[in-house]
Amino acid sequence: MKKFNHLVSVQQVSDRAFLDKLFALAADFQEHNTRNNALEGKILASLFFEPSTRTRFSFESAMLRLGGQVITSENASDYSSAKKGETLEDTVRTVAGYADCIVLRHPEKGAAQRAAQVSPVPIINAGDGSGEHPTQALLDMYTIQKEKGNMDGLTITIVGDLLYGRTVHSLVQLLALYRDIHIALVSPAQLRLPEEYKQNLRAQKISFKETEDFPGALQKADVVYMTRLQKERFSSQPDLLTLNVNKSSYILDEAALSQLSQNAIILHPLPRVDEISPIVDSDPRAAYFRQAQNGLYVRMALLQSVLDSA
Ligand code: NCD
Repeated sequence: MKKFNHLVSVQQVSDRAFLDKLFALAADFQEHNTRNNALEGKILASLFFEPSTRTRFSFESAMLRLGGQVITSENASDYSSAKKGETLEDTVRTVAGYADCIVLRHPEKGAAQRAAQVSPVPIINAGDGSGEHPTQALLDMYTIQKEKGNMDGLTITIVGDLLYGRTVHSLVQLLALYRDIHIALVSPAQLRLPEEYKQNLRAQKISFKETEDFPGALQKADVVYMTRLQKERFSSQPDLLTLNVNKSSYILDEAALSQLSQNAIILHPLPRVDEISPIVDSDPRAAYFRQAQNGLYVRMALLQSVLDSA
């Protein structure tokens, strides 16, 4: 399998053959509930400057299940020397001397790229502000393939905060590797997908449309990908208040669910706030907790491909 030096953006994933191999390995780990010693002697540093539940725990669990070890800063903004004014570059250079790989989450777009420029060990981007979240997109794709069987002809309906949602930014670029798909982008006008990602889709001749018609988009969806409003990215409170009012029309509740076909699936990178009503959770189409579980196996496969020198 192709080896990454760093994984900063899904743009580095340029072929489906890589995904096929990664997903086959993840499926094998999942099927056998694997614990082995493939990464014995290796140390993963997780350096998180923003909150996380799934990403950090699943990376750390993945490392432990492969026999590696973990050092971690779960609140690096307060408990690393960043608090004293150390630059990200200096922190990364230092931690790289103690670990074989760094999983980094940071509030600034471009932080993972900056870290990669100075790090002698692989940097895995676990979210850089409103930039990207490439490993989330990998597990999203794995989940779609596992749940739907294949990608051909699918309509993927992505809903919510497309402006700041970094998982969406990575996902749309990864979807572009698949030819026969349709993407529906559903959001209030203020939260549309940034132009740079739309240009990428156009350049790759991927069929997509933007709409504010949530019920209409649900009717045509094979996959619904819900996202929360990224409140922490808004600088002004009035903007946020207007949006809070608008977003009530983008809630997946019982009524919205009735628009969805029986074979569709519902994804969400989580955390869910109020955009999916808890009543949806017991519906077999609700795949978001299965999706979060899949993240463990995809991250095991990724760590193995990044770190295994055998
Ligand atoms: C996402 C993130 O951090 O971007 N969470 C995650 O990693 N599953 C989504 C979010 O916070 O809304």
